[in-house]
Amino acid sequence: MCGICASVGFKNGVELVVDGLKKLEYRGYDSSGIAYLKNDEINLIKSVGQIKNLQEKITDNLQSDVVIGHTRWATHGKVSVENAHPHISFGKSFALVHNGIIENYEHLKKQFQIDNLYSQTDTEVLINLIEKQEGKTLDKLIGACNMVEGSFAVCLIEKKSDKIYLAKRNSPLMVAISQNGCMAGSDISIFAKKFEECFILEDDEFVIASAKKLDFFNKYGEKIEKTPLNISNFDFSDENLNEKYFMLKEIKEQPIVLKKTFFKYFSENYLNEQLLSQLGKFKKFHFIACGTAYHSSLMGALFLEKFCRKECQVSIASEFRYANRVLSKNCLYVFVSQSGETADTIACAKLVKEKGMKVMCVTNVPYSTLEHIADFVLPTFAGKEVAVASTKAYVSQVFTLLIMVLKMAKIDEQDLLKDFVLRYDNFNFDEKLLFPISKFKKVFFIGRGQDYVTSLEASLKLKEIAYLNCMGMASGELKHGTLALIDKETLVIAVSTVESLKSKVESNIEEVKARGGKVLLLSNLVHNVDVDFRIDLPSFDEILMPIVSVIPLQLLAFNYALMLGYNPDKPRNLAKSVTVE
Ligand code: F6R
Repeated sequence: MCGICASVGFKNGVELVVDGLKKLEYRGYDSSGIAYLKNDEINLIKSVGQIKNLQEKITDNLQSDVVIGHTRWATHGKVSVENAHPHISFGKSFALVHNGIIENYEHLKKQFQIDNLYSQTDTEVLINLIEKQEGKTLDKLIGACNMVEGSFAVCLIEKKSDKIYLAKRNSPLMVAISQNGCMAGSDISIFAKKFEECFILEDDEFVIASAKKLDFFNKYGEKIEKTPLNISNFDFSDENLNEKYFMLKEIKEQPIVLKKTFFKYFSENYLNEQLLSQLGKFKKFHFIACGTAYHSSLMGALFLEKFCRKECQVSIASEFRYANRVLSKNCLYVFVSQSGETADTIACAKLVKEKGMKVMCVTNVPYSTLEHIADFVLPTFAGKEVAVASTKAYVSQVFTLLIMVLKMAKIDEQDLLKDFVLRYDNFNFDEKLLFPISKFKKVFFIGRGQDYVTSLEASLKLKEIAYLNCMGMASGELKHGTLALIDKETLVIAVSTVESLKSKVESNIEEVKARGGKVLLLSNLVHNVDVDFRIDLPSFDEILMPIVSVIPLQLLAFNYALMLGYNPDKPRNLAKSVTVE
């Protein structure tokens, strides 16, 4: 999983590609690099770590009009300069950047005797495979790609050539042209303010891009026509960082995201009667997603069962993918994904679509691969999310799914939701809580129903950015095993926002206290139990509390990570968009 970017024709190609890579850094930041043509020869600059390290190695005013760049999230081979892309062929004629995984690279390596590689990457096999093919450069690229199993989006350059070659399968790639040149890359953000339209490549399409021209081909090398997508109205605006950290900026944006979502779904009527009636015809809903999006799916399923009495199922995409599940035409398959590019989620969407099922996606990135596959699209309006840990995207998914469910159930809660989005404001997290909490080595989040889902999400946040080994669980499950772990070194964070389940939560808290565990209660309700710490939540209608309760827990994770000296925006070993299996 990586980000790629290329420029041809523009005199300031190096600058454009490095700027593009910065926008793609959410796809990985283990290492980065560029390859560019100078005096007809290929030159490489690579660095380990974030793009800023690469920038330090690039001399001022380095000019080239043929440039490719890459930001890496390591899959094959450790994080090192050797394994950083671009990779160059043995004959030094070609350089390549690649996003994806060549699954049969070992086999290809043996078959074509590609030995003595410089790196441990599957990509270096691919670039040498390309060099070994017959014919012109496009034929070589097509020949190699046709032998590859797996996923790839690649940009290839050749010495003494003023062209860039592109190919893709199962990894995103798009290209745009203006009077001054072409750019290509992994997502639309790299085109911001430079291009009016772009072309989104389909699987097994190939491109020759030069300063003045784009030619498209299919996998047989035949020329094809493509229709451009107008991006002049695309919203590239919300990337400015006013806070020191994107994660804090994004947490603070949540009240605005809620207002925007309400406005889009009620004033602009994004979910019209026709779509609602189509959705209403499905007897069953099966949500499929990963990570945080899996949690918002769990919440969506709770809403759907409660208000529409529709049978719901929720699956983790990587599990669904190989489970050979029984599919049904009465069921709508709902894929929730912030990026719309998560490999496991996309693979499942393709799988059910190929079997003739209907697919809906709930996604935050317009024109994403998932949107492309889906029959129905429910956009979320969180705006660009940069921090690796998802915050505003989660809240926007939960709110969007709630709106969908209420509309499907024909429950007119417009006033209630409006009052909420107008009144809900940022939560003031009391940092004094951090020190006592930080004394605990074991942390469990517990809750029931919607609060159980919040517990799962809160625990994921704390794990991924503060590296705390914690766990979210259903309160009622404690006594079935986990209670054995509770002692005076344990903190249990109990989430309680459902009046009818209050007494059950209190019993669970007593069970913890009886074993010496300490308790932090996060609630808007009046509870009849003594606890060690409390976070009081503002009170809104119960159906809105999943949004209200998760935000202080996002802030808890953020502040905890800072206190330990970690960068919450870029947690170790992770990337924003997981475009590999
Ligand atoms: C956690 C997080 C991840 C993503 C997951 C799915 O904070 O961000 O767990 O939720 O990788 O990503 P999307 O929603 O882009 O499919």
